[in-house]
Amino acid sequence: MTDHTTPRPELWSLDPGQLHLNHGSFGAVPIRTQQALAELHAEADTNPMAWFRAVGARVAAARLELAAYLRTDPAGFALVSNASAGVTAALHTLPIPAGGRILLTNHTYGAVRFAAERFARLNDAEVVEVAVPLEADDDTVVATIASALDDRTAVLVVDQISSATAMTFPIDRLVETCHAVGVPVVVDGAHSPALIDAPAEDGADFWTGNFHKWPCTPRGTAGLVVAPQWRERTQPLVVSWSEYAELPERFDQQATNDYAGWIAAPESLRLLAELDWPLRRSHLSTLVDEGARILAKALGTGVGEVARPAPTMRLVELPSSVQLTQESGEALKARASREIGAEITVTGFDGRFFVRLSAHAYNSLRDYEILSERLPRLLR
Ligand SMILES: Cc1ncc(COP(=O)(O)O)c(C=O)c1O
Repeated sequence: MTDHTTPRPELWSLDPGQLHLNHGSFGAVPIRTQQALAELHAEADTNPMAWFRAVGARVAAARLELAAYLRTDPAGFALVSNASAGVTAALHTLPIPAGGRILLTNHTYGAVRFAAERFARLNDAEVVEVAVPLEADDDTVVATIASALDDRTAVLVVDQISSATAMTFPIDRLVETCHAVGVPVVVDGAHSPALIDAPAEDGADFWTGNFHKWPCTPRGTAGLVVAPQWRERTQPLVVSWSEYAELPERFDQQATNDYAGWIAAPESLRLLAELDWPLRRSHLSTLVDEGARILAKALGTGVGEVARPAPTMRLVELPSSVQLTQESGEALKARASREIGAEITVTGFDGRFFVRLSAHAYNSLRDYEILSERLPRLLR
């Protein structure tokens, strides 16, 4: 008998010799889904012609299950490979006039900022960054972003749950504020599926999110939710035989590709349901809170004072003696893996540096205790 507080590492194939405390970056695929995926690949290779004859119907069936999981209108839900592709398709669709402004925040994921920069370059527009403090509550977030809107703002691109700061943004209020002045909103919900119920319900023009993070599907599985007024003109990034199909079908197949991950994805959703996910998620919030407190104590620092943290991620401040660049941050993560057997990520925001801890169903308090015993010596 297990309950939603019992860690279930046996359902994953994660190396027990390492501490896996960064689910947030790349997720982790449970054994059951790996097996389903392997079976699909084997089937494809027994008769590729037969596989591709049937693949369209199977992808469409999986797409409907993923849309139902998000509790979103299936007519506006398209499959994409990742949140980066979703944001790119959205910015490709929206009109960005010359001289216009693409608004984002200082929490925006780096690659999403690059997408904004590309479309600003292509349209003779500019990227404008709004500084939202780490400890901002919802009122402050809304007021800060509202004060940056002007008649040149072509679009707001905003995180639902940010990466470097693991902070939850009030998307409903931001959509309302932007729409009141005619500004479309693109929501980067990369972390939202399984962390927020019905994450795409706030009426944004575009919402995108990854299933390969918290719902643990095969990597390369993500969704793009398109508001009715944009559905006709939203196109996949690859031009292929579906060019003249309707949305969402026109995203289902983009040339010869490996569609097995999308077809296997619902297996992970079933596993999460069996793990009593909503209850387990609230247990994991308590777990990561406690883990963060233990680590902060061991480092002599504090837990990042985020007003509305992501349910299953927390920031723990690194000692002020640790100053990181992109390069030295990568080097620190590699050393943590090699020298203390810990898979962690480190992030930077406003000149401060953090370990961003995750908790998923395979984690236990002992993981955070061991990290707390070992990390101080790595930083010495
Ligand atoms: C907030 C946010 N946006 C976008 C992404 C990009 O996700 P992907 O690499 O799946 O496109 C990430 C990945 O961690 C993220 O955290």
